[in-house]
Amino acid sequence: MDISEILQKYPPTRDHLLLILHEIQRVNPGNNITHADIRQVARYLNTTTASVYGVVRYYSMFSLNPRGKYIIRFCKSPLCMMVGAFNLLNFLEKELSIKLGETTSDMLFTLEPSECLGQCDKAPVMMVNETIYYNLDETRVRNIISHLREKEYKKQQS
Ligand code: FES
Repeated sequence: MDISEILQKYPPTRDHLLLILHEIQRVNPGNNITHADIRQVARYLNTTTASVYGVVRYYSMFSLNPRGKYIIRFCKSPLCMMVGAFNLLNFLEKELSIKLGETTSDMLFTLEPSECLGQCDKAPVMMVNETIYYNLDETRVRNIISHLREKEYKKQQS
């Protein structure tokens, strides 16, 4: 689906901006919003590129930089940190061979910090794209990453 098709699904009013940006980001291979997208959205909504940039930069879920297919949002809020998230984050960084804020060289994973994901009673917690994983420990984190890697490997083989 290209950007024009996405835009045509929405009336050209600013109150649809967030939905439009979400959808564009979801279909872009780099899991981001490009400068060309911003110009096209601004034209469609009859607004300035600066105002669209403002929204993209305000919300941490949007990115101008290309990111991995799987965005891992790791909760760094106090409650998760109190029950082992700090060590778990180190483990995850080693598992992926990247630091927080980086993307793996195969463009599969981007590791981002997150505020509370609303599942504090099941801490530590992380979200991978739309899925929340909780009660995390090293085994569970390793299994999640392996499962996603395998899934992508099988897709490439088919
Ligand atoms: S503090 Fe991590 S989910 Fe709430």
